[in-house]
Amino acid sequence: MSNDATIIEPLSGPLAGSARVPGDKSISHRAVLLSAMAEGTSHLSGVLDSDDVRSSIQAVSQLGAKADLAVQADGSLAGTVEGWGQAGPVQPDAPIDCGNSGTTARLLMGILAPWPIEVTLTGDDSLRRRPMRRNTAPLMKMGVRFKPAEADHLPITELGCPELRAITYDAPMASAQLKTAVLLAGVYAQGTTTLNEPAPSRNHTELMLPEYGVPTTAGTRMAEVTGPAVMRSSDLAVPGDPSSAAFLCAAALLKRGSDITVEGVSLNPARIGFVRTLERMGADIAEHIEGYEGKEPYGTIHVAFTEKLRGCEIPAQHFASILDEVPVLALVAAHARGVTVFRGVAELHNKECDRVRAIIDGLALMGVDAWEEGGDLFVEGDPALQLPRGLAFDAHGDHRIAMTWALAGLCGSVPVEVEGFECVAVSYPGFLDDVRKLVA
Ligand code: S3P
Repeated sequence: MSNDATIIEPLSGPLAGSARVPGDKSISHRAVLLSAMAEGTSHLSGVLDSDDVRSSIQAVSQLGAKADLAVQADGSLAGTVEGWGQAGPVQPDAPIDCGNSGTTARLLMGILAPWPIEVTLTGDDSLRRRPMRRNTAPLMKMGVRFKPAEADHLPITELGCPELRAITYDAPMASAQLKTAVLLAGVYAQGTTTLNEPAPSRNHTELMLPEYGVPTTAGTRMAEVTGPAVMRSSDLAVPGDPSSAAFLCAAALLKRGSDITVEGVSLNPARIGFVRTLERMGADIAEHIEGYEGKEPYGTIHVAFTEKLRGCEIPAQHFASILDEVPVLALVAAHARGVTVFRGVAELHNKECDRVRAIIDGLALMGVDAWEEGGDLFVEGDPALQLPRGLAFDAHGDHRIAMTWALAGLCGSVPVEVEGFECVAVSYPGFLDDVRKLVA
């Protein structure tokens, strides 16, 4: 047994009742970052308190925004962010460390684009391995300079361009981080900036910019903004994170007799592809919209255990709507009858770790056959799957991998070890408590 492994004991019974999950990570980042860009003071609530979001808060503070966000009784962050507005960000006196957060680094590249300052962005070992050229390439077309110009990895130094050119860009991959960087730079460019993408990525930025006084056009595979525009402060409440809710839903599907409702969660269609996928696998799961925060729908997800889970094929066109949920969906697929095929998963090699490798290796430990072929991921399920004793998984420093293997232990009948489990702090620090609280 290794020293820093967390031992996960099986749950003592089924999950029942209702739960809330912490604020959506993507929306929380955007709320903090867009508030920092805006003129005036924004009021935010329900903001996710996690290492990733704290990287964004720290970054905008270094750049001169005044973030006064305090931890609330429910564990969320709420308070104000006074933006730099028309005056622009200040020249930071040190590099900005984005930690593990790809969203912080890639969105900042767009945010810094119009300002005459020189900022070095860096991050932890994992983030410094992740590709960045996808973001720097379109921004260079708009007039931004990067040092080194051809760099694909952090640290990268950005030199903003006060005379940004509007562009029409056909993105080579569906990435909301790339799209957002171009749109946020486009707010300050002269004319209309258009981003076309090969498949629809999450659209939180297009939906949120109008809340800050900047109209956008949001199509299925395109987004547009016309600049230069003035961003004004806003008041936002962040709904719960569907990517965190997916772990509770999967727990209910893997633990016999469970029946739960997740409340107050974002039901943005671009984010609940996992509900559609689980439905197709035969799960008893449904969402119900209860209201809108701005243009973002939120509500409940109800899910109950079923013995009838079966494998399915998830087409590449749907990949962007499940990309953060593939690890946990692969765990569910391992317990379903037949093979599940996740088409077009190559992007997962570039996440917080190589998620394709991590999924295949972890499932292999469990005795489950999974493989990658032609950019697709295959998982051969077994409804009678029982974990052998003494399993020791590796989180590979990746929060979603850590939670996936923890779930295997929580919902199985023998304890498992997860090495490096503490990285869940990146998106869902209270994950274990929230699952255990659902067991009566
Ligand atoms: C995110 C976009 C996705 C997602 C990440 C958050 C965002 O990344 O995986 O967890 O908030 O824009 P890509 O843009 O790389 O697809």
